[in-house]
Amino acid sequence: MPIVDPSEFVRAMGRVPTPVTVVTTVDAAGRRWGFTAGTFNSLSLDPPLVLVCPARSASCHGAFVSADRFLVNVLSADQAAIAADFARSGHDKFAGGVMTPCEFGLPGLTTATARIACTLHAVLDGGDHSILVGRVESVATGDREPLVHYNRRFTRPADPALTPAR
Ligand SMILES: Cc1cc2nc3c(=O)[nH]c(=O)nc-3n(C[C@H](O)[C@H](O)[C@H](O)COP(=O)(O)O)c2cc1C
Repeated sequence: MPIVDPSEFVRAMGRVPTPVTVVTTVDAAGRRWGFTAGTFNSLSLDPPLVLVCPARSASCHGAFVSADRFLVNVLSADQAAIAADFARSGHDKFAGGVMTPCEFGLPGLTTATARIACTLHAVLDGGDHSILVGRVESVATGDREPLVHYNRRFTRPADPALTPAR
């Protein structure tokens, strides 16, 4: 098997636009946890499942793999600063006060373009990440433009659309 150059792999994946989410939970001791996640996607419609992938090295990893519930905040185009804040380890990410109790009482952004509240359905092996499969229990959808991450930058969805919405 050829060995893939990690920097080439990272460069190639930089060509893949991702959503920008902040995923939150609260542990049994009542401590809030959150991290910025681009690996967020829908997985199944029946039952409604999504997935998100925290790194095993993240300080929040233990809290998420043992959480009953988590909340995915899909960031709006004007929320890049929040994404950057929740991508930075080693500080109190909730000190800024932008999060308020939302679904299940979990920290959320009322100005997110969508919120997806999940119960933990499964934890799968994802190499140096874990794959959290969440069963969707409720959704809240706004009409704000979403934030996109592409080529290691925060950006907006490309416009105009090439095809009509389907
Ligand atoms: C746009 C973007 C997307 C990210 N996506 C992920 C992801 O899907 N999984 C992950 O583990 N870290 C991801 N990160 C990095 C984490 O947000 C960051 O390492 C975080 O601080 C880890 O949480 P910790 O503070 O609990 O260690 C992403 C960062 C950015 C800026």
